[in-house]
This record gives sequence, structure tokens and C-alpha cells, in this order.
Amino acid sequence: MASPKVKNEKIGIVGSGLIGRSWAMLFAAAGYEVHLYDILPEQVSSALDDIKKQLKTLEKEKLLRGKLSADQQMSLVKGTSNLSEAVKGAKLVQENVPERLDLKCKVYQELDKVVDSNTILSSSTSTFLPSLFSKDIKHRSQIIVSHPVNPPYYVPLVEIVPAPWTDPAIIPRTRAIMEEIGQAPVCLTKEIPGFALNRIQYCILNEVLRLVADGVLNVSDIDKVMSEGLGMRYAFLGPLETAHLNAEGMESYCDRYGQTIYDVSMTMGPTPKFEGPVVKELHKQLCEMTPLEKLPERRAWRDLCLTHLSTLKKKMSNTE
Ligand SMILES: NC(=O)c1ccc[n+]([C@@H]2O[C@H](COP(=O)([O-])OP(=O)(O)OC[C@H]3O[C@@H](n4cnc5c(N)ncnc54)[C@H](O)[C@@H]3O)[C@@H](O)[C@H]2O)c1
Ligand SMILES: *[C@@H]1O[C@H](CO)[C@@H](O)[C@H](O)[C@H]1NC(C)=O
Ligand SMILES: *[C@@H]1O[C@H](CO)[C@@H](O)[C@H](O)[C@H]1NC(C)=O
Repeated sequence: MASPKVKNEKIGIVGSGLIGRSWAMLFAAAGYEVHLYDILPEQVSSALDDIKKQLKTLEKEKLLRGKLSADQQMSLVKGTSNLSEAVKGAKLVQENVPERLDLKCKVYQELDKVVDSNTILSSSTSTFLPSLFSKDIKHRSQIIVSHPVNPPYYVPLVEIVPAPWTDPAIIPRTRAIMEEIGQAPVCLTKEIPGFALNRIQYCILNEVLRLVADGVLNVSDIDKVMSEGLGMRYAFLGPLETAHLNAEGMESYCDRYGQTIYDVSMTMGPTPKFEGPVVKELHKQLCEMTPLEKLPERRAWRDLCLTHLSTLKKKMSNTE
């Protein structure tokens, strides 16, 4: 293609489900040539149809990313049922197969046979340390995790996590690609269970479970603490800058509140298990708020909210 916005650089997508499709759209929006692979050929064709439909809708709603039209972006996305074809000569391969360790191991064995020595091998895994599935492969210095947050089209964070044997040069190269496609990468210096996002999320889940178990707040009020309180500012500022602004800087914040934070934290009790009667109670109250048959509708509403929020965030970042 002659357009200067098209890169003539290749990205391989392995696994064309929910997350693989999102990555394909993000890379195509930035002008990459995207090669989609899946073990099921019908998944590839359904992914191509779905991507086309999504791009058209986004264009109509003026939410399409990048400078290319929906048709131009679509023409950059190609399907294949040949793994080697999908990854040969790629700048980066993004792997998105189901979250099962045996499957990840198998896929990396297969990739190892067909991938070039300068291609970044990037996994979308939410939970596995990269060392768990890359230990025995020849190309293990090219391994990295790029963990997205669903839906990646509107939630830009990507956690970049190296294995112990990852070539250090892979980290800034991956980060640069993620920035180039408009995502917001953070780079962990080493692998750690839960990466950063889930470690923080689990602290929150632990405390809300304790508060419900102790009968302090019910489920709808707990969620309100986040959606009408903390979450309002966390959409724009992290907890650290929030603290910095809530006093005359961080040192003043710690002088004023440090002892209180410590004393309150000491009352929090042991790490709870997510099982037994408390889970039944959480589920019961949540089903009263959102019945299971309403989940798809509620997810669509969540995605719509995130769409508007990401537009607002873009607007606000121009007023800084
Ligand atoms: N869904 C989320 O919210 C989310 C968020 C962040 C990260 N992730 C991670 O992304 C990855 C994919 O999740 P998903 O939700 O897209 O799953 P999914 O089930 O929607 O898609 C997985 C795809 O992989 C294909 N597949 C299975 N075996 C394969 C193989 N051997 N080779 C190639 N393709 C194969 C399946 O046919 C399917 O199309 C997982 O590692 C998950 O942890 C998911
Ligand atoms: C897959 O593609 C490669 C070229 O990248 C080719 O050598 C190989 O024969 C193809 N395999 C099949 C089964 O078509
Ligand atoms: C949760 O608690 C609040 C305050 O006690 C109450 O007003 C509300 O009705 C409760 N919600 C449910 C679903 O029980």
C-alpha cells in the first residue's frame, strides 16, 4: 500500500479470541500489517468478520483509533491457518491462547520452531509468570509478557514483564511498540505473581471481603465506596499522587497520616479465603443487583462507560 501511514511492518497474532481480536485492531490502527492465526480456522474467519464489524461501528461513532479509515485498517488484517506464515519476519508476535499452562507451553514449543531470532515473543497471559512457559525453548531470550486490560481498545494499560532470561533490550523495544500503538505500558523489572495490577486489585478484594464478612457494609454499599468515591479520582490520578495532593506533598501526607495508616492497617486481619458462606452471600447480593441473565447487558454498559471515560480523559489531558 502506498499510504505513508502504513508501516510495512508485520505483527503476528496467535489465538484469535476476544483478546487476540483487540490486539489486531490496535496494531492495524497504527498501520501495522497484522497476521491472525488460530488453531481453529473458523475462529480466524469469525475474527475477521467481527473485526470488520467493530471497525465500521467505531468509524461511524467517530471512535476509531489511528489515522486510517476502517477499510484501510481492515485491509491490513490477514487471516491464516499456518503458524509459520503468521509469525515469519514479524516484529512482534502477540500470543493470546486460553489461560492454561499446558497449552501455553505447547504453543511456545511450536513457536520456537518457526519464529525468527529478532521477533519479540509477547504473551497476553493474565496470571502465568513468563518463566513458567518459556524455560525450555531456544528463543527464550525473546520472551516477554504484555498483559492487557479488558477491553484494551479503551483501557490502555499494558504490564510488560520479563522472564529471568529475557534479553534486557526486549523490554524497551516492547514498550516502544506499545506506546506507538497508543497503549500505556509499565515495565516491571522482574516477574512477580499477579504482576502489579492484580496485586493491587487483590488487596482491594481482600479488604472488601473482610468488610462484608464482618457485616460492616453490604455488597452494593461496598461497591459504592469505589465507584462513587475512590474510583472517581483513580480514573485520573493514582493513589500516590492523590496522597501528594491531599497534603502539602507526600512527606507532609506521611507526617500527618502515616501513623493512622499503619494503625488501621494493623486491624485488617489475615488474608481471607475466597470460599464458603461469604462467597454465597456475595453472590446472592450481587445477583439481586445484577441477575446472571443481565450480565451481557451490563458488560455492554460498562464498555460504553469506558468509551466515554477514555474520551473524557483525552480531553482532560489537553487541559493540563
Ligand atoms: N479476557 C480477558 O479479559 C483477558 C484480559 C487480559 C488478558 N487475557 C489473556 O488473554 C489470553 C486469551 O484470552 P481470551 O479471553 O482472548 O480467550 P479466548 O478463549 O476468547 O480465545 C482464545 C483463542 O485461542 C485459540 N486457541 C486455542 N488453542 C490454540 C493453539 N494451540 N494455537 C492457537 N490458537 C489457539 C482458541 O481457538 C481461541 O480462539 C489468555 O492468556 C488470557 O489470560 C484475557
Ligand atoms: C506454512 O508456511 C510456510 C512458509 O512460511 C511454508 O514453508 C509451509 O509449507 C506452510 N505449511 C503448510 C502446511 O502450508
Ligand atoms: C445495603 O445497605 C444499605 C444501608 O444499610 C441499605 O440502604 C440498602 O438497602 C442495602 N442494600 C441491599 C441490597 O440490601
